[in-house]
Parts: sequence; structure tokens; C-alpha cells
Amino acid sequence: MRRAACPGSFDPVTNGHVDIISRASALFDEVVVAVGVNAAKKRLFSAEERIDMLSEACAPFPNVRIDSFDGLLTDFCRDRGVQAIVKGLRAVSDFDYELQMAQMNSSLSDVETVFVPTSPEYSFLASSLVKEVATFGGDVSGLVPPLVLDRLRARLAGDA
Ligand code: PNS
Repeated sequence: MRRAACPGSFDPVTNGHVDIISRASALFDEVVVAVGVNAAKKRLFSAEERIDMLSEACAPFPNVRIDSFDGLLTDFCRDRGVQAIVKGLRAVSDFDYELQMAQMNSSLSDVETVFVPTSPEYSFLASSLVKEVATFGGDVSGLVPPLVLDRLRARLAGDA
């Protein structure tokens, strides 16, 4: 069984994330989406909300499940029997940091990192930008799954 992890904050999940997860699901027997729940970081959505939105967005992929972690990604991979970390690369600007993380993770364990180039239509997409555009009333309907759009609108309108 070849098992991969797709790690991230997913605050919130975007169509770019879903693209990478779906492509990882075609390459591996099983994909675990690993939601980082670092409590020290301020998020728009709680870990439970992020997991909830991911569960719905990934429902079409039968070999994808959602999990969370708080600590080292390599520990999560060891505990879950994950052999590879799949990361999307949007542009050269992503590469420096992603390479650094891949090499650090490689020094900590024997987990492999696999880079997947983001599909061109999502190469500009980032959760931070989606939140900023939505905050100022911009249209992000083509950039996130429908449930995320609803949750974003509700959160920015001032729900709990
Ligand atoms: O969506 P993000 O914010 O780019 O996700 C970053 C994440 C959660 C994948 C990364 O910060 C991470 O792997 N954190 C876990 C802590 C860890 O293992 N740090 C060492 C990485 S070299």
C-alpha cells in the first residue's frame, strides 16, 4: 500500500488544494490530507471547520481521508505509515521554502517529498489571497468549493 500525505493549513481549502489532492489520489493507493492545527497560529477557521470543509471537498475521491496533526509532519507520517509527502508547486517562489522543508523532513525521517506542479489555472491561488479578496467583497466563487464560499461569506459577515 503506497500512502501519501497532503499537508497544509487549509484555511480554507481552495480549488488549487483540491486539484493537488485529486492528482495525488491518482498516484497513490491512499492519500491522507494532514491538517496542521498549530494552536499558536491565528486562523479564520477552526481545525474542525477546516476538516469539515475538506471532507466535503474531497468526498468525490474514495481513497482520500482527512486527518489532523499538531507537531512534526514526519512524526505524523511515521505514525500513519505514510511514505511520501505530496506538495503543490505554484511558481519558482514556492520552490526555495518547499525544498528547504523537503530536505529538513528528509533529514528527520525516510519519508520522500513529491512535488506536483499546480495546474496553470490555479497558479496564482492561495488561501491568504482568497481571504483578502473576499474580505473586500471580491468574487472568489470560482476559486473555492461551494461550501467554502458559503462559510467564507458567513464568517466575514460576522457569524460566531
Ligand atoms: O498550508 P501551509 O501553511 O503552507 O502548511 C504548512 C505545513 C503545515 C505543511 C508546515 O508548516 C508543516 O509541515 N508544519 C508541521 C511542523 C513541521 O513538521 N515542521 C518542520 C517542517 S520542515
